[in-house]
Amino acid sequence: MKGLDSLTVSGRVVLLRADLNVPLDGTAITDDGRILASLPTISNLRERGARVLIIAHLGRPKGDSYADRAAGGPSLAPVAARLSQLLRAPVPLAADVAGDSARTVAAGLADGDVAMLENIRFEPAETSKDPAERAVLAGRLAALGQAYVGDGFGALHRAHASVCDLPALLPHAAGNLVLAEVAVLERLQDPARPYVVVLGGAKPSDKLAVIANLLGRADRILVGGGMSYTFLAARGYEVGNSLLEADKIDDVRRVMADAQARGVELVLPVDLVGATRFAPDADHEVYPADAFPADREGMDMGPATRELFAAKLADAATVFWNGPVGVFEFPAFAAGTRAVAEAISAVPGFTVVGGGDSAAAIRRLGLPEDGFSHISTGGGASLEYLEGASLPGLSALADAEPAR
Ligand code: 3PG
Repeated sequence: MKGLDSLTVSGRVVLLRADLNVPLDGTAITDDGRILASLPTISNLRERGARVLIIAHLGRPKGDSYADRAAGGPSLAPVAARLSQLLRAPVPLAADVAGDSARTVAAGLADGDVAMLENIRFEPAETSKDPAERAVLAGRLAALGQAYVGDGFGALHRAHASVCDLPALLPHAAGNLVLAEVAVLERLQDPARPYVVVLGGAKPSDKLAVIANLLGRADRILVGGGMSYTFLAARGYEVGNSLLEADKIDDVRRVMADAQARGVELVLPVDLVGATRFAPDADHEVYPADAFPADREGMDMGPATRELFAAKLADAATVFWNGPVGVFEFPAFAAGTRAVAEAISAVPGFTVVGGGDSAAAIRRLGLPEDGFSHISTGGGASLEYLEGASLPGLSALADAEPAR
C-alpha cells in the first residue's frame, strides 16, 4: 500500500476520504478525536499544494436523504466548522455530494485550500449493495478530482462507494492515519506476551468472531459490560433485567469451552452494580455475580471485579481494549470503565484502545490519552481486522491504479 508521498498532489483536487463521524449532542460535537486524528494527512496535502476536497459520512441517514438534511438530518456543517477552527482557514461545505454545489466548491479551491462535500450517506448509492449503483456514484465523485487519498480508517470495513469503488478510478494512496492504524494492528498479530484483551460493549454477537480469532493469540480475555451478562447467563447465573442476547447463549458456551480447551483464561465479572432501572439516578447496589436479583439491571462491574481485572492486567506486555465495561455515560456507573482504563494506563507494555466508545470514554472521563500507546479511531474496523477479515477499503487502497 502506497503512502502520501507516492502521489503527485500539487495543484490537483485530491479527494480525501476521511472518517469524521463524530458524536454530536444536537449540533455540538462531544468528541472531536476523529477530526484531530485526520489533521496530519490534511496538513501534509495542504503543505504540498493540494486542493483538498474531503468526503465523509455522519451517522446513518436513510432514504431520500437531502430531504432529511432539510429537516435537520445529519449535516456535516458542525464538522466543517470545527475543522475550519483547527486549521485556522475557511472550510466551505458543499450543499450536496457530487452535484452542482460540489462542482462549484471544487472549482473554487486554490492550492492548499480545504473544502468538504456534504454527508456522503445522503446519497443512497454510497451504501448500496448493488455494485452498479455504487459505481455510478463513484464515477460522479471521481469527476470532481484528480487523485484519491484513503484516510478514513474507521470506515475501511464498509464496502461503500467512496471507500472501495472510488479508489479504483483515480491515482490513490493511503493517508497517514490509515498507515499508522494498520501498523499497530499488525503488531497485535504477533504480540509480546502476556497478551491481555479486554472486551466490553453491548452485545456478544458483535464480538464472537474476534474472540474466536483471539483465542489463538491472547493469553487472557477479560469480558465486561453489556456483553458479559450473556456470558454469565451461559454459566447459568441470573442476570435480571440486564442486557441479554438469549439466542447467543449456545455460541457463548462454545467459545467458553474453546477457551478452556486452548488454555486461554476467560475472566468474567465476580460482582455487579445492579440498578432498579436504566437511569443516571437509579437506586443501585453491588451484588455477587452468582446471586444477582431478578428485578435489577446490571449497569457496571463491582469493586471486586475492578480489582480482579486490574490484577489480570498488571503483568501484561500487550493489551487490546474494546468496549466500555459499564454505562460510563452516567457518572454513577462509570467506575468500572474508569478502573479498566486506569489499569491499562499503568501497564508499561504496548497498550491499544480499539476505538469507538472506549476511546470516547477515555476522553469523556478526562483520563490522559498519553497513558495508552495507541487509541484507534476505528472500533468496528479494528475488530474486523483482528477477526482476520480483509477490510474492503484496505484492499481497494492496495489495488492497482487506473492506467493514465
Ligand atoms: C464508525 O463510527 O465506526 C465509523 O464511522 C463507521 O460508521 P458506521 O458503523 O455507521 O458504518
